[in-house]
Amino acid sequence: MSLNHISAAEAASLIKHGYNIGLSGFTPAGTAKAVTAELAKIAEAEHAKGNPFQVSIFTGASTGDSCDGVLSRAKAIRYRAPYTTNADFRAAVNNGEIAYNDIHLSQMAQELRYGFMGDIDVAIIEACEVTDDGKIYLTAAGGISPTVCRLAPRIIVELNAAHSKAGMGLHDVYEPLDPPGRREIPIYKPSDRIGTPYIQVDPRKIVGVVDTDWPDEARGFSDPDPLTDQIGRNVADFLAADMRRGIIPSSFLPLQSGVGNIANAVLNALGHDNTIPPFEMYTEVIQNSVIGLIREGRIKFGSTCSLTVTNDCLDDIYRDMNFFHDKLVLRPSEISNHPEVVRRLGVISINTAIEADIYGNVNSTHIGGTRMMNGIGGSGDFTRNAYISIFTCPSVAKEGKISAIVPMVSHADHTEHDVNIVVTEQGVADLRGKSPKERAQAIIENCAHPDYKNILRDYLKQTDGKAQTPHSIRAALGMHAELAKSGDMRNVDWGKYL
Ligand code: COA
Repeated sequence: MSLNHISAAEAASLIKHGYNIGLSGFTPAGTAKAVTAELAKIAEAEHAKGNPFQVSIFTGASTGDSCDGVLSRAKAIRYRAPYTTNADFRAAVNNGEIAYNDIHLSQMAQELRYGFMGDIDVAIIEACEVTDDGKIYLTAAGGISPTVCRLAPRIIVELNAAHSKAGMGLHDVYEPLDPPGRREIPIYKPSDRIGTPYIQVDPRKIVGVVDTDWPDEARGFSDPDPLTDQIGRNVADFLAADMRRGIIPSSFLPLQSGVGNIANAVLNALGHDNTIPPFEMYTEVIQNSVIGLIREGRIKFGSTCSLTVTNDCLDDIYRDMNFFHDKLVLRPSEISNHPEVVRRLGVISINTAIEADIYGNVNSTHIGGTRMMNGIGGSGDFTRNAYISIFTCPSVAKEGKISAIVPMVSHADHTEHDVNIVVTEQGVADLRGKSPKERAQAIIENCAHPDYKNILRDYLKQTDGKAQTPHSIRAALGMHAELAKSGDMRNVDWGKYL
């Protein structure tokens, strides 16, 4: 049979109020764009007529403005899972307008299969090629596409010419069986391929192919600055020292690294530390810095869920597939982030914290304990199962008015049991093998900003100091309360909590 080509507006008109929509993509890479942009127009028109129009969105991770942005502004999202970074979506969540389920990215596909989130009515999948017999070749991300393609009764394919067909061999599509039939995921090194380069669907489910030419909406990141450079150097020096003393094998271990400026600076420092041998990545997101290091031979292989790179960088990869075909693989998020594989490979995880407390608990998601920033992303998938789990952050935010090191985190994403190392521009706290009191000492003395060292030492002094995890329960969030009151944590007065 030959597939039916339709316009984005026609495809969007197939989507009804109340639908659950499964999307391709992971970060703005590989996300459907044209149909969701048209869907926002339908929602606005229906709202203008006084009719309800909202859908639920299931994705791999964040999307671009043409999905989360336009749909949030059109008030067209009722529910969404998982991670997102969009500012309009964030505002709507923190206004209580959208129900947001922030789950670990590795669990998204299986929770859909288990039926935890209801049925999927339609999948919108971006592809660089689709064949009449139902082979869908994904673009720059694996995400949850294999699962939503299988579960959805209807599939819309956005055939996006902005992604070269040269990328057709990048993916390794593999979907595990569900319990009680689940077997091991047979990945024994980052470069192992265990699936197919395409998703096979019943072509009768493809209700329309929308031809587009719409580049990915991934943003570039600023160049490293002295602060992020210092954090990067601290991480690289720490890992090089662990390798010298034999804790990390001399062949090194695969790395996972988060997204953003700090992650870029860390990779830059690791990539240019010649005491560390060329290494591999087993990660969920690859940014420009990794592609540069692959070209330089410093990174030998990158296993990832998405290529969240600038469009010129992506075009370079597509043009040079002869070079990249045995150096990159794109996987579904439940495989790129799979706890079993992360632990087997001995992945070293490096993620960013919003705040960490003196005992090593980390908040990655909530500002002031209540307002959602982005979400947990894959940080929990990797941290809990890592060979060594590292969190980085600047020691202060907002010109020093906020300390990233606090007595007690205002929201906990990663607990003291999972966090091995905390790194700021001030230094490195190695929490491995330490009791809570020893961890508090290490974090305050090595990671806190000088403006806050005495404040944190004084906090500890006014606890009884004897308990397993000494806290003054009344004062534990005193720095946050002070921030809310005077706008500066440095004004905290522990005396008033006595
Ligand atoms: N209290 C209040 N605000 C804080 C803060 C704190 N303790 N720490 C940082 N901020 C603010 C910053 O000032 C900045 O504000 P601005 O946007 O107004 O400038 C904002 O939070 C973001 O901070 P920034 O230093 O720019 O961090 P980032 O862009 O590197 O993002 C996270 C940091 C934690 C939000 C981000 O890494 C994230 O969402 N992580 C969770 C997901 C994850 O780890 N995924 C891993 C694999 S991809």
